[in-house]
Amino acid sequence: MKIAIGNDHAGIKLKPTLIEYLEKNGYEYKDFGSYTTDSCNYAEFGAKVAEAVASGEFDRGILICGTGIGMSIVANKVPGIRCAHCHDTFSARATRQHNDSNVIAFGERVIAAELMIDIVELFLTTEFEGGRHVARLETIREIEKKYSK
Ligand code: RB5
Repeated sequence: MKIAIGNDHAGIKLKPTLIEYLEKNGYEYKDFGSYTTDSCNYAEFGAKVAEAVASGEFDRGILICGTGIGMSIVANKVPGIRCAHCHDTFSARATRQHNDSNVIAFGERVIAAELMIDIVELFLTTEFEGGRHVARLETIREIEKKYSK
């Protein structure tokens, strides 16, 4: 499984913990930045990760900003992305099982590193349940198409 990761200046402190987890567990990943603590625009980095996942080059995306909110908003603008803004393990499991979410967004100012890793593990290992959820995802795709130019 190939993972795209990205952050802004407010999400950079959690990144080493995330990278350590991915490397320890043998995941292939690419870090789309940002790479410094200089103030930057979360939308640029969120879009890079979302586009990398939507293109099919990467299987999942993990985003970190101050709250996780800006990153999730921008990621969900990219057709094909289902980004979960998620800070608890119940939602992490459920969003994979029910929403087949392909990107997750965290807020470094909200969550501890240990909990983020528990959530990442669920996000990367929980299967989509399919069944009744398939038609719901199809409705989301139709809505995306309706508003695409
Ligand atoms: C940066 O200060 C902050 O606005 C950003 O990281 C994020 O939380 C936006 O939603």
